Amino acid sequence: MAKLTIDGSAIEVADGTSLFDACRLARGEALPHFCYHPDLSIAGVCRLCQVEVEGMPKLTIACNTSVREGMVVHTRSEKVRNAAQQILEMHLINHPVDCPICDQAGECGLQNQYMNYGLYDSQVAQGDKVLKAKAQVIGPHVILDKERCVLCSRCVRFCNEVTKTGELGIFNRGDRAEIGVAPGRELDNAYSVNTVDICPVGALTSRDFRFQKRVWMLKSTDSVCPGCATGCNVRIDHEAGRIYRLKPRRNAKVNGSWMCDEGRLTYKTVHEADRLGDPLWRGQTVTWAEVPNHLATVAAGGFALVIGSAHLSLEELALLKQVAGAAPVSGGLAGSDMGTGDDILLSADRTPNRRGLALAGLGEHGAAELAALIRAARGAILVHGGDPAAAPEIAGALNGRDNVVYVGTHRRATAQLAALVLPGSMWAEKAGVFANRQGRLQAFAQAVARPGNAREDWRVLADLLPRGGQTIPTSLKALRAATAAQLALNVDLDRLPADGALPGGEA
Ligand code: SF4
Ligand code: SF4
Ligand code: FES
Repeated sequence: MAKLTIDGSAIEVADGTSLFDACRLARGEALPHFCYHPDLSIAGVCRLCQVEVEGMPKLTIACNTSVREGMVVHTRSEKVRNAAQQILEMHLINHPVDCPICDQAGECGLQNQYMNYGLYDSQVAQGDKVLKAKAQVIGPHVILDKERCVLCSRCVRFCNEVTKTGELGIFNRGDRAEIGVAPGRELDNAYSVNTVDICPVGALTSRDFRFQKRVWMLKSTDSVCPGCATGCNVRIDHEAGRIYRLKPRRNAKVNGSWMCDEGRLTYKTVHEADRLGDPLWRGQTVTWAEVPNHLATVAAGGFALVIGSAHLSLEELALLKQVAGAAPVSGGLAGSDMGTGDDILLSADRTPNRRGLALAGLGEHGAAELAALIRAARGAILVHGGDPAAAPEIAGALNGRDNVVYVGTHRRATAQLAALVLPGSMWAEKAGVFANRQGRLQAFAQAVARPGNAREDWRVLADLLPRGGQTIPTSLKALRAATAAQLALNVDLDRLPADGALPGGEA
């Protein structure tokens, strides 16, 4: 351990800690910076993080310096402020300052640092600024504005160190230096939009989000990506019931600071035109008040078979088992929603909760096996989540039955074949817990309203529980307590740590 003094406060940190991290601890906020990033190598190029260390003749770059016993450090002295100001002034000599039309405005490192450390009268007299290419499409998801770049090299390091695809580089020298894609290349790796996230200014912007919304109008809700079994931690940015973007949320135990481009676009399914917003009885819209009567027509004696899905939350799976009672429960169609994975984050399993099925003790069935179960069912069938009828064998088995109840979100194949359709919610419209591929339990929260009269799935299931003898959950909190007990998880599902927990409570 090393003891040092930062801005008059004594602090003790582990040997080898960077001065940047020690200063963050002591100050309660990071030093000004452009090039430092916790999940990339240290470049030490922007020089914004300079601090004064007593006994050293010049200012020191904090991100590139390790702590030493007895260091006395000043991060807010006149000398440090002047240095930060000069660096910002240098960046702004040729910067276009087109903030009113820049997507980054409101979350821009240059704007923020200028307001914190700049606010100077410029000492530099320069006629014309050096002009560079603007709004250059450099890949399927990213646009580059070379004039806005502060040459922090984060995007270059990301492509070299994380995806190892090396598309980006810094070309030319002096005030002609600029970021660009290597000749004949595109920024088309499967994680390209992370460069937008880590670009401290508006040089790299997302084609999907570009000009969609001013960032200060967005509200953020912490969530988990439902795109695959990795369960990357994300932030849902939304406004007035509409999701505008997903951003990765740092979790060193799951996704670091990153997420894939495919997962980033999963929010689009929430706003698809074929969402179910009302119950349907034999294809006709009905009210929830009419549902019990229709249910009595098809499932008066309960269900003879229940089919779940790896898209359901852990709480829903536990409740689904209760709805089934003594009837067989399938975890859904084995092998559904599989794709190609990689060794960065993306899992071949494109469902968010297959480990949750295992925790709930539910096995999936192959298409022929599931079709046989459906044909053998002497009574009503409840299908919850997914779209198993997208598989021809399942569609064939369900076809012609007049006693299928489907709880789902989209008007797709299974909804077309069900007698009674009950509209549930997508992940961004409800709260729940998924178990990712590590078995890590991660909570997601509701960000936007459900369409029409759709309901939270657990409330739909609670209404399907046979009355008498069952404890009907009256709140998600109560359901979570019951789920943890039922599945012997030994963890409080209602108060999971921000970075999730393993069953048994292990962090
Ligand atoms: S484009 Fe952005 S991330 Fe890349 S070097 Fe320039 S400022 Fe840094
Ligand atoms: S790796 Fe999986 S969980 Fe992570 S962002 Fe991509 S699809 Fe979502
Ligand atoms: S953050 Fe330390 S030099 Fe850039």
